Amino acid sequence: MALRTMLTRKIVGSGLGIGLLQSRSLQTVALPDLAYDYGSLEPVISGEIMQLHHQKHHQSYVTNYNKALEQLSDAIVKGDASTVVKLQAAIKFNGGGHINHSIFWKNLAPVSVGGGEPPKDSLGWAIDLHFGSVEALIQKINNEGAALQGSGWVWLGVDKELKKLVVETTANQDPLVTKGLSLVPLLGIDVWEHAYYLQYKNVKPDYLKNIWKVVDWKYASHVYEKEFPKS
Ligand SMILES: [Fe+2]
Repeated sequence: MALRTMLTRKIVGSGLGIGLLQSRSLQTVALPDLAYDYGSLEPVISGEIMQLHHQKHHQSYVTNYNKALEQLSDAIVKGDASTVVKLQAAIKFNGGGHINHSIFWKNLAPVSVGGGEPPKDSLGWAIDLHFGSVEALIQKINNEGAALQGSGWVWLGVDKELKKLVVETTANQDPLVTKGLSLVPLLGIDVWEHAYYLQYKNVKPDYLKNIWKVVDWKYASHVYEKEFPKS
C-alpha cells in the first residue's frame, strides 16, 4: 500500500501561557498508479469505467480516509472520545475502499501481459484440491457475486489458521479481514455498480462472466506462496 508521511506540528495546549509544540507523523495513503493503461482491459472493461473508477472513486476513498485520519489524530490529542468513536465509520469505509481497490487493480491485467491465464503452481493445485477446478471456483465466485445484494465485494482468500482457501462476500467497502482475522485476500472482485454499470447496465452476471478474461492470477499466487512457502 502506498504510504506517505505527513509531519504535522500543532500547538496543543497553552494553559500556562506557554504553547506546547508537539510533533507527530501521520501515515496517510496515496492513490497507487496502475500498471496498465485505462483502455488496455477493453473490451472487457471500458477505459471510461477504469478511469472513473481509479481517478474518481478510489481517489475519493484516499482523500476521505486521510481526512478522517487527521481528524482522528486531532480528536485523540484533545481527548475527544465522542469524535474518536464517530470517525470509526468513515475510517472503515474509506480505508476499506482504499485497501480493496489497491488489491483489485493488481488482480487485473491486459491479455497481452497474462490477463486471463489460469493460476499455476501451488495456488493452482490448491484450487483444484479445494474446489475441483478453476472453472468450478469461478462459477462459485460468480454465483456469490451475482447474489450479493447492494454494494460489496466477492473474494477468494486464504484462511491462515485453517490453511484452506475460502470464498467470501463483504458488504460496502468492508475488507476481507472483517469476516475473520485469519483471512488474507488473494483476489477481490468489485461488484459495486460503479465497476460495471456504464458498460453492462444491470446485467451484473455478464460483467462477472467476462472479467475473468482480464484477471491476473500472479498477485494471488504471490500472496498465497508468501503465506505457504514451498518446502
Ligand atoms: Fe470500486
